[in-house]
Amino acid sequence: MTAPLTLAQRADAVLRTADGRAKTALSRQHAAAWFASRAEGAEPMAIGAATPPLHPARPAQPVLLSPREVPKRKPGSPAGRIALLHAVAHIELNAVDLHWDIIARFSDVPMPMGFYDDWVKAADEESKHFNLMCDCLEALGSHYGALPAHAGMWRAAEDTAEDLMGRLAVVPMVLEARGLDVTPGMIEIFRKAKIDQAVTALDTIYAEEVGHVAYGSKWFHFLCGRENADPKQVFHALVRKYFHGALKPPFNEEKRAEAGLPPDFYWPLTDQPATEG
Ligand SMILES: [Fe+2]
Ligand SMILES: [Fe+2]
Repeated sequence: MTAPLTLAQRADAVLRTADGRAKTALSRQHAAAWFASRAEGAEPMAIGAATPPLHPARPAQPVLLSPREVPKRKPGSPAGRIALLHAVAHIELNAVDLHWDIIARFSDVPMPMGFYDDWVKAADEESKHFNLMCDCLEALGSHYGALPAHAGMWRAAEDTAEDLMGRLAVVPMVLEARGLDVTPGMIEIFRKAKIDQAVTALDTIYAEEVGHVAYGSKWFHFLCGRENADPKQVFHALVRKYFHGALKPPFNEEKRAEAGLPPDFYWPLTDQPATEG
């Protein structure tokens, strides 16, 4: 009899699946298995260990270009709206890999079960988000892979491959928090264009992303507490070490607060720091 798959092995398998729809299908299947194993009376799933690839497997399309090479399109045009959905789909696929990667890569760091619950749930939601964006693109006659996408999205993962606190600071608490700032503007674009499917999909993404930022903040504070370190100071040091460039206002202060991210965490990291103290 073969041993049941551990959570880390399942995470690794998602990272090694190239096709977007296949990756998200496997991701959702493993998430369901994890939550079934967490039910009362069920056989618990071991966390286990894995050696995840430094770069996750990705489909042959889209072609990846540096941000400077990605053609700019007018946001108000049909082509611009497709480009926007395509960019979000790309971010979501990257996010699926990021959440499984934090589980697989740091499986040697002892963490409470709630840590795995949170990132498995986040990975499951990102999988849903990718599929929603693909459905919207297909309804508009396009598909994920039809346009070039940003290369270098995995850079944050590579830079923090050996630093769990650095990973939490940069990925959920900077990059995903940025999503909270920009999503309302995107929803407005599709509302104006009366593309209800995209409005509904982006509303779902917007609501669920607050949770991902909150998980980041929760586990970052947990690790600081374990090391008796000041979370704000550690956050500033890690973002300056691993994140390239300043944070850009305007910030969605309300949603950031809801996600456990106070202004004195992010304002000092902008070009125009508010008075700190
Ligand atoms: Fe997402
Ligand atoms: Fe997310």
